[in-house]
Order: sequence, then structure tokens, then C-alpha cells
Amino acid sequence: MQKLNRSIITGTGAAIPDRVITNEDLEKLVDTSNEWIVSRTGIRERRMLEEGFSNADLSEKAAREALSRAEVSASELDLILVATVTPDHHTPSTSCILQARLEAFKAGAMDISAGCTGFVYALSVAQQFINSGIYTKILVVGVEILTRFTDWEDRSTCVLFGDGAGAVVVEATEDENRGIINFSLKSDGRGAKLLYVPAGGSAMPASEETVNNRMHYLIMNGNEIFKFAVKAVEDTLYDLVRRENKKPEDLDMIILHQANLRIINHIRKHLKLPQEKFPVNIDRLGNTSSATIPIAMHEEILAGRLKEGDLVAMIAFGAGLTWGGVLMRW
Ligand code: UT7
Repeated sequence: MQKLNRSIITGTGAAIPDRVITNEDLEKLVDTSNEWIVSRTGIRERRMLEEGFSNADLSEKAAREALSRAEVSASELDLILVATVTPDHHTPSTSCILQARLEAFKAGAMDISAGCTGFVYALSVAQQFINSGIYTKILVVGVEILTRFTDWEDRSTCVLFGDGAGAVVVEATEDENRGIINFSLKSDGRGAKLLYVPAGGSAMPASEETVNNRMHYLIMNGNEIFKFAVKAVEDTLYDLVRRENKKPEDLDMIILHQANLRIINHIRKHLKLPQEKFPVNIDRLGNTSSATIPIAMHEEILAGRLKEGDLVAMIAFGAGLTWGGVLMRW
């Protein structure tokens, strides 16, 4: 495969709603316990977007911070990619709403729907446009308002998800030693119904019956996704590093999708790598799907743990099924 190493992330941002939902809050809603949620998932609390605000609001906040940190003006953007499965509307795309708010009038805009792997897909797409020389400045957002699609009567899912947004500015660089090195994008649609929203699309349009049967909420087969996730992460990690004749221990940081702390710990122990190489935000934010990785990236930058020259792998998995990763030299 052609070496792809000339797209760098020059700015990051995040937007986290203020409202905290603790495990104790959920104990009052469904038959669950703080002990069960912490021991099975590692989640202690998650954030919920206030009524009256939407996906585009969180996207805008994260995007403005990323643009400011990159010192890029929205008017310079060539393309806006929003990875999300919880857009403001079926149509138009959230990226178009964001484009108008930012007044990024030169930019094309599209949403990318790849479940929790959405940010990895979007970053890989951005990299292609930059690598080809077509574009030089692209905004990539990973954002979800999952609490609006969560069945608050289903204890097997409502304890897991949260709202949040992360954004990055991707730019072309002449520096051959930095940037995205390679990526891996995979899917297996045979697992489509392991994590899906049955109604509200063209397969089953909204009706009184679908609403009464609570079919507009997420349904998940957690056990099957868990087993798939562990294998998908390890396969992707080895695929990314072996193509560069490297080993997992050569990585300075491995930013995994935050779906379950047990998945992260399992991978870490299996690879025998130290804890500090694996950023964690699931304890505070729950599973924010497409947003987990860009938020983690932003938090690691702010904390000074993610530094220029670091070899970083980002790996995600989710609905579709989809999975994949990006390897980059920060
Ligand atoms: O973002 C990408 C997609 N999502 C994922 O990657 C999620 C992957 N899966 C998981 O993280 C885990 O499978 C879950 C956290 C979703 C579930 O954990 P688990 O250890 O696989 O539990 P389980 O589904 O096997 O359920 C064990 C028991 C069941 O009771 P019985 O049948 O043994 O009596 C469930 O009914 O736990 C029960 N249970 C709960 N109990 C208290 C399920 N949810 C809850 C709950 N509180 N919230």
C-alpha cells in the first residue's frame, strides 16, 4: 500500500454537556445498581444534552475550539465531515447545518454513518482528500446525542450511552515524518441487527404502532458485540503496526473506542502494555459512540500526554458491524 503520511491534526476540540447523570440517578429509573454498572462497564456517570439543544450545537462548540487551536478560519475549510448516527434530521446532514453556522462557505459537507467507527472512517476519508492533493484543510467531527435514542426503560442499554462531541482540524503538511501513516476500514453487515434502531427509516416508517412498541430506540445484543469487539480491536491493531514493521509495544498511545472498560483492560492486559498508554473517558462520559476517540484525543492533548512525535493508534468498532483504525505519527 502507498505510504500515506502527509495529513496532520493541527487542532482538537470537544464539547461535553453540563448535565451529569450518575449511576445512582439510573437506579431510580430501572432495576440496576451502581455496583453492576461499574463492575460490568466501568461507567460511573454520563452526560446528557439539555432539551432545546441538538447535535449541531455540540458539533459547533467542538468545531470552534478545534479551529481556534489550529488557527484555521472556517472560511479556509475545504470540507466538513461529521461522523454521527444521531444527526439533527434524516436530511439535511448535520454537516450542512454546521457549515452554515460556521460560515464555512467554501467547504463541501457530508455526514458519515459508520456506527461507533464513524470518526475513524471520517478521518480516513479526510486523509484521502488531503493525500490526493485535492484539499488542504478539513474539519472532522465525531458527535452523538445518544440519550435521545436510548430506551430509558431498557436497563441493558440505557446505562451505557452518553452525549458528547469531539472535533479535529486535519491539514496537509510537507513534513514526511508526521501525520497519518495508514488506516484500516472493515465492515460486516451480517451483524446489522446486533445493534440497531428498528423503526423510523424507510424499512419501517414511523407509525403509531412503532412508537407504542418503542421501536425508535437502540436495541443491542451486548454479548455478541463484546466478543466481536475484542477480536476486531486486536486484528486491527496488528494490521496497522505490522504493515509498518512495528509491534504494539512501539506505540506511545492506543486510543480505543470507549464502549466498555473491560474491553479496554482486556486488550491492554493481553498486549501486556502499561495503563497510561490507554486513555479512558468512559468512566466519566459513558459510551459516546463516534465522539469517544476525538474527545479522548483532545483530553490527552490538554493533559500534555499526547505529544508531537508520538506513534498513536486509534481503533474503533460498532454498529454495522464496522471496525477500523488509524495509525499516525502525532
Ligand atoms: O459502542 C459499540 C457497541 N457497544 C458495545 O461494544 C457494547 C459491548 N457489550 C458490553 O459492553 C456488555 O455486553 C454489556 C455491558 C452491554 C453487558 O454486560 P454483560 O456482562 O455482557 O452482561 P449480560 O448482557 O450478559 O447480562 C448479564 C446479566 C443479565 O441477567 P441474567 O440473565 O444473568 O439474570 C442481564 O439481564 O445482567 C443483567 N443486566 C443488568 N443488571 C443490572 C443487564 N443490564 C443490567 C443492568 N443492571 N443495567
